[in-house]
Amino acid sequence: MSAEQQTIVCEDLGSCYQLRVTAAVAAAFFDLRIFRGTSLPPAAEHAPILVPKAARIEPYTAYLMRGPLATLGAFSFAHTVLPWNLVVGRYCSIAEGLGMFGEQHPTDRATTSVWSYSPRNPVVALILADLGITDFQTYPYPQKPPAVIGNDVWIGANVMLARGVTIGDGAIVGAGSVVTRSVEPFSVVGGNPARLIRRRFSDALCERYLRVQWWDYALAAINRLAFLEPERFIDQIEDLSASGRLPPYRPPVFDASALLDMLDRLRSGAWTPPERPTLDDLLMQAS
Ligand SMILES: CC(C)(COP(=O)(O)OP(=O)(O)OC[C@H]1O[C@@H](n2cnc3c(N)ncnc32)[C@H](O)[C@@H]1OP(=O)(O)O)[C@@H](O)C(=O)NCCC(=O)NCCS
Repeated sequence: MSAEQQTIVCEDLGSCYQLRVTAAVAAAFFDLRIFRGTSLPPAAEHAPILVPKAARIEPYTAYLMRGPLATLGAFSFAHTVLPWNLVVGRYCSIAEGLGMFGEQHPTDRATTSVWSYSPRNPVVALILADLGITDFQTYPYPQKPPAVIGNDVWIGANVMLARGVTIGDGAIVGAGSVVTRSVEPFSVVGGNPARLIRRRFSDALCERYLRVQWWDYALAAINRLAFLEPERFIDQIEDLSASGRLPPYRPPVFDASALLDMLDRLRSGAWTPPERPTLDDLLMQAS
């Protein structure tokens, strides 16, 4: 990490950096088209944020409630603080109040308490030190991986995801659901535990959507297609793709270190963002 980067990184927490979002860093995010919060011009943030080292962040992502920079694909909007280790694809819409199950305690041991498996916990360390215990016996308890959300997924308000579940491409999770099992692509699920309500399209059409993976393409490429007619939309994508007129969208994808590097290059003036219309310009044009 460069000396410049160290001035904005508060701490290396192992799997994440803690980053201070000063006014300059907030402006740099905006220039990278990683949108944070809803205020313009972009503002400094009070608390440091987590930048997971494993995260992969594309431009044109919106962390509207700020929070950690979890993996988020282009054209996705999160109206919630994302769990730091969640992975989210492109063109997703995530409503407020998304949560993910935390650490799982063992259920098949004499106790569910932390004392049998002792995760890295400073309080545990302090208590053991106070009691003069230096050889406390613990037994590891493996955890499931975080949840993964595919592409073009809509998550309703106040949803809770169990660890290890995958929400398939094109799925919809109803408001207030607790998702304990993976959700099939293009399924609509709801409830606690979340159960299938219906599929969005016929099985045959779902198959075609999964084959075509339209989210691999940029907005400009799909802008004039038949959004209102799902079958014709997929016909059009198939035709364009077959004729080679649909290039995949491959923007720069930032991991933590590339992101910190870019933030510094912006702050120091080593990289200047392209000329773009301001929001005021756009509002003027629209009026
Ligand atoms: C899941 C959802 C998309 C389904 O919408 P829909 O297709 O119009 O479904 P309907 O209202 O016709 O309901 C269909 C069935 O699903 C059930 N259902 C609907 N939403 C549900 C939910 N969130 N949880 C559990 N069951 C739900 C209904 O009770 C109904 O069951 P029934 O057939 O036994 O009577 C919608 O109800 C929902 O939860 N939307 C989220 C809205 C939101 O949170 N927006 C935040 C801003 S992005």
